Amino acid sequence: MMIQNKVMSNVATLLFSILMLNGCGNEQADNQIILPLVNPKTNINIWPDLNIEVKKSSDIEEKITYLLSRMTIEQKVAQMIQPEIRDITVEDMRKYGFGSYLNGGGSFPNGNKHSTPEDWIKLAESMYQASTDDSLDGSRIPTMWGTDAVHGHNNIVGATLFPHNIGLGATNNPALIEKIAEITAKEVMVTGIDWVFAPTVAVVRDDRWGRTYEGYSEDPEIVRSYSSAIVKGLQGHADKDFLSEKRVISSIKHFIGDGGTEAGDDQGDNISTEQTLFDIHGQGYVGGLTVGAQSVMASFNSWYGQKIHGNKYLLTDVLKNRMGFDGFVVGDWNGHGQIDGCTNDSCPQAINAGLDIFMVPTDVWKPLLENTIAQVRAGKISRTRINDAVSRILRVKLRAGIFDKPSPIARKFSGQTELIGARAHREVAKQAVRESLVLLKNKNNILPISAKQNILVVGDGADNIGKQSGGWSVSWQGTGNTNEDFPGATSIFQGIAEQVAFAGGTATLSVDGSYQDKPDVAIVVYGEPPYAEGHGDVDNLDFQQGNNKHLSLLRNFKQQGIPVVSLFISGRPMWVNEELNASDAFVAVWLPGSEGSGIADVLLTDQDGNIQHDFKGKLSFSWPNAADQTVVNRNDVSYSPLLPYGFGLTYGDKNVLSDNLNESTTITQKSPLNREIYTGSMKKPWLLRLFSGKEDIEVSSNTHQFSTINYRTVDKKIQEDAFKITLEAGVRSGMKMVSESNYSQDLRLDLAAESALTFDVKLSKSPSDNVLLSMYCANTDECVGSIKMTDVLNTLPLDEWHTISVDLTCFSKSGVNLADVTTVFELSSVGQLEVSLTNITLIPYQRGKSSINCHQ
Ligand code: BGC
Ligand code: BGC
Repeated sequence: MMIQNKVMSNVATLLFSILMLNGCGNEQADNQIILPLVNPKTNINIWPDLNIEVKKSSDIEEKITYLLSRMTIEQKVAQMIQPEIRDITVEDMRKYGFGSYLNGGGSFPNGNKHSTPEDWIKLAESMYQASTDDSLDGSRIPTMWGTDAVHGHNNIVGATLFPHNIGLGATNNPALIEKIAEITAKEVMVTGIDWVFAPTVAVVRDDRWGRTYEGYSEDPEIVRSYSSAIVKGLQGHADKDFLSEKRVISSIKHFIGDGGTEAGDDQGDNISTEQTLFDIHGQGYVGGLTVGAQSVMASFNSWYGQKIHGNKYLLTDVLKNRMGFDGFVVGDWNGHGQIDGCTNDSCPQAINAGLDIFMVPTDVWKPLLENTIAQVRAGKISRTRINDAVSRILRVKLRAGIFDKPSPIARKFSGQTELIGARAHREVAKQAVRESLVLLKNKNNILPISAKQNILVVGDGADNIGKQSGGWSVSWQGTGNTNEDFPGATSIFQGIAEQVAFAGGTATLSVDGSYQDKPDVAIVVYGEPPYAEGHGDVDNLDFQQGNNKHLSLLRNFKQQGIPVVSLFISGRPMWVNEELNASDAFVAVWLPGSEGSGIADVLLTDQDGNIQHDFKGKLSFSWPNAADQTVVNRNDVSYSPLLPYGFGLTYGDKNVLSDNLNESTTITQKSPLNREIYTGSMKKPWLLRLFSGKEDIEVSSNTHQFSTINYRTVDKKIQEDAFKITLEAGVRSGMKMVSESNYSQDLRLDLAAESALTFDVKLSKSPSDNVLLSMYCANTDECVGSIKMTDVLNTLPLDEWHTISVDLTCFSKSGVNLADVTTVFELSSVGQLEVSLTNITLIPYQRGKSSINCHQ
């Protein structure tokens, strides 16, 4: 992102100097140059005046006017603040009366992932009762709870998890999608929740984006029709049961252009023309707003360098005034803090631009509330704007019956726990799985497989419900779960095994591919590990970067004459030519969710040898023909994917892919040294591990707590771009950044370039014992360099960010062989420590400039 801004300003500077040469280097000319880049010339006529099916009612408008006339500024601003359950108590709700609150991905009542639906209802009920208790804040406006039910009610253990949107796109079945949304709404309401942050209507143009799987398609066609189907499924139909007791509020997200950022960067910059912004990225809003979506979530991304959260033209002129949206705009996770000139706790710019609710899921909700109130008083935000924002919030609450409904515990589906993961719901999810599978290759009609055979089921995805479910599954990143965290779900292997047992064949699970009796066929299940958001951004589409262990399995089976079927789990199309060549059949299964058994329904014949279900899925994303073909989309001028949009074989179709696809790639296989080690996320090939005493684990989630160590992601500049480590005294504990597969990395060039290991650090408590910064080689005993950081840390004022750099010479002098580094950064102590870290990088030309120098 930073690089882009730099490029942008370089372009600006370049243009500026050209104009200077032309003799117009005055201030006005400067403005003329910069403006078109930062703020493209806009044309409101590009956007339609939508014929929105849900109209304003005079009854509701009168109530809004009445309520507004009785509200204080404090009460109004409180409606606009949305904190997160980890950072507020019920008493905060009583005292401040927030208009809404959320639980983020992987955030549960009492911090307990195994909280029961009753625990969820209890929290919903207490928050509701506190919000309608006017004893402290004088307000009785009921609050509402929003959650990310993005593929089913995915934060709840035992919920039905539908395929992620990329798989649903392949089904191209809007009626099914509407049913899915309706079921999701029900499961959400069982837990007392009012509002769902879905659908994501991103039209994904560059598959490197970590949120590719949250999109239905690279093309606006399916996205537009699905958006209206989902909104109808969640909220009900405008002319029927709109926001009835069986429905929840929906949010279309992320407005606008999230799927079209440069290089597929999460939260990056979209530099589409305004026409493209509408034609491609705006279509989901056309679909969803027309049928009455009541809220829209602003996007983290920028348009020409300007963050959408602060873009008045798009939020107010286009969305509200032109398109006629009369619901509210909610921000994304401290997204306001990313606007130029804003921080997480102060941002009149966002409200002035048209944001109606601040999503402020960290402990800064209180200063944000206070600052916003002060800004209204000081006239930095007009009262008209506040009244407009609050009117929108009240309008949605009134339409949704939030004022009239019983409290959460007494609502229609509340507490009907049998609905969570209900059989009938799972059947619909299973249908979606069947219809989402895309058959890319089927040589010699190897599929379908007779269930009477001896079948070997192989690979780390075979019996792994977490892997098949992807991100946003119980935990935010989808990591840290076992099959036991998905009660009622079936893995892909379990589905196969059940049918094979029934038909009289044998199915054997062998993760590593070993076997005793030579199987008739091997089904190999592998693919991407779970991830969410920017953590899933990649540099190219080569699946083998870090995932190459399955290729040799495939090739071994082939050599032994065993037919091989690949089931590829992924959140995006990937370059897998080697895997395709080594497979007789290849199925893109995407991220099927909790009903892995839907796969056996299509792959296997019944006991009489009949096809049970044919393949129906068609690619809603073009399949790339090279690792660096990251932008390849239907209707491109020159379009050369490996397999086009809409492709998908059915049984009996002629196979099209040979075994001789081009296997060469310009992308190097072994991940090279990366001098960015951690910049908001770990950068390949570096992995983050935590250790305490003998325990040593890889970080797989946004929080970890064991023994004497506590880890949590925190915000420095943008959401979760840093992490905090808290150590208790006792045993030596800490964190370390190690090279993937323990490959050693050669830092001799860095030493020669006078580099320093540099990082941003914020101390919350002074260390109670020595703190060491260490580097290691593969042979840790013989090759270690530790630098004592205690003194430097002790000079830092608490609770402020500082940059520290340690000259690489220090490590080589203290005994590290820099040709052979496997651990590049380890911070440890036996004492107490509370420290946040980010931007850990190797920076050249630091001789003499570092905080710790070891040059002579
Ligand atoms: C939270 C999730 C949230 C995500 C947003 C994570 O730390 O746990 O709840 O959705 O951040 O980026
Ligand atoms: C995501 C949103 C999500 C929000 C709340 C953000 O990080 O971008 O999609 O709704 O967190 O969890």
